[in-house]
Amino acid sequence: MTSSEREEGGALWGGRFEEGMAGAMVPLNLSLDVDGRLWRQDIEGSRAWARALGRAQVLTDAEVTQLLEGLDRVELRLAEGISPSVPDEDIHSLVERLLGQEAGPVAGKLHTGRSRNDQVATDMRLWGMGTLDRLDAELTGTVEALLHLAESSVELIIPGYTHLQQGQPVRAGHWVLSHLWPLLRDRERVRAARRAAAVLPLGCGALAGCPFPVDREFLRDELGFDRISENSMDTVSDRDWMADALYAGAMLGGHLSRLGEDLVLFASREFGLLRLPDGFSTGSSLMPQKRNPDVAELMRGKSGRLTGNLMSLLVILKGLPTGYNRDLQEDKALLFDTMDQLLLVLPAVTGALAGSRWNADRAEELLSEELLATDLADYLVRRGVPFRESHEVIGRLVALSESEGVPLSQIPLERYQEIHPSFEADVVQVFEWESSVEARKAPGGTAREALRAQLEEARRRLMG
Ligand code: ARG
Repeated sequence: MTSSEREEGGALWGGRFEEGMAGAMVPLNLSLDVDGRLWRQDIEGSRAWARALGRAQVLTDAEVTQLLEGLDRVELRLAEGISPSVPDEDIHSLVERLLGQEAGPVAGKLHTGRSRNDQVATDMRLWGMGTLDRLDAELTGTVEALLHLAESSVELIIPGYTHLQQGQPVRAGHWVLSHLWPLLRDRERVRAARRAAAVLPLGCGALAGCPFPVDREFLRDELGFDRISENSMDTVSDRDWMADALYAGAMLGGHLSRLGEDLVLFASREFGLLRLPDGFSTGSSLMPQKRNPDVAELMRGKSGRLTGNLMSLLVILKGLPTGYNRDLQEDKALLFDTMDQLLLVLPAVTGALAGSRWNADRAEELLSEELLATDLADYLVRRGVPFRESHEVIGRLVALSESEGVPLSQIPLERYQEIHPSFEADVVQVFEWESSVEARKAPGGTAREALRAQLEEARRRLMG
């Protein structure tokens, strides 16, 4: 294929072929609809590459200038959303073809020493670094919203659950923070993936390295990478950072899903603990009374594809022979989807949390005295009764309360003392919600003081 044919579109190769591509192969071979969004990164990488070739004396200063000016014009055209009139295989082919139109024959020199293998790896890492930064910022906003909700939920006491059965009372802020810490850990994972992404592939060529004296450290600096990669063969197929990003996304998705599930439950009539804001609820087309917690359901629902994207990439990577293989092209849709979904869902989560309100009356209604059974057992423990024995004793009291239909606090002291002689008149103090939560002062517990310390630590880490 001559360079003028290139300008008209077509493959970046072809010299060795006698026949054109089969009709059924053409659409399979095209990836522009997926990788077209890498155009900014492709131009950025191409600018740096043109400069590096100039510094290596492979291109003259005049040629570098022509290429850079051409790339500026290609950027303007692509910013207008140009839709290609010929079927370009991928974003790299498109940028190169447009550069041919804008800069003339010198465009054919840009690809010297560069392969689409190191090029696409560079573009994806550049895209990943920028997008992981955006994800970090969005996630920080969500964590902030949780922190504010927790700060205003210190005084409210709600039932705490295990097995979705009432277990022990907790401060509502303690429950809120139980969802904040996982998200802060997710932010660490996002940052770790960002660091893993910041390794420069450019200058590795197709597999064996670049035969021209390009300065990879210069390229690293130009493009904002932290380090350069060590081995060209590894580099062109290394998608580890992407698996890290998809893992961070899958974990975050799982955490949002669990928070979503709690919100669905808490917003139901049966619980009635929390009211999600109108702006994040939907009605029903048929049932006029409905107020559906769609935001929370979508938080929960998104986790399926986020986990799926990670699984897909891991399966694609397994068993590939050394070096670049076209299978790797399938990585893009997965990373784009995970990041798109998270950047879609997080602002809604943040907004929904910021506008959520507790129903304090309902919280009080829901608190059942059985939540204090552990405190009753601890009461006996403080009087020297071994915990196993007191557990058994309180179990009998709960059974008695159930069979006689009398709340634990209404059973007469004499009955308590019949069951165990260590009960005294002060046992009534156990039936204060405050004394139950305030007993849990050890760090990480739900007492006011421990919760305040936790809030402070969360605020400190959020800023970090
Ligand atoms: N579109 C390809 C991808 O996304 C670019 C690299 C193509 N390299 C090749 N040797 N065919 O992976």
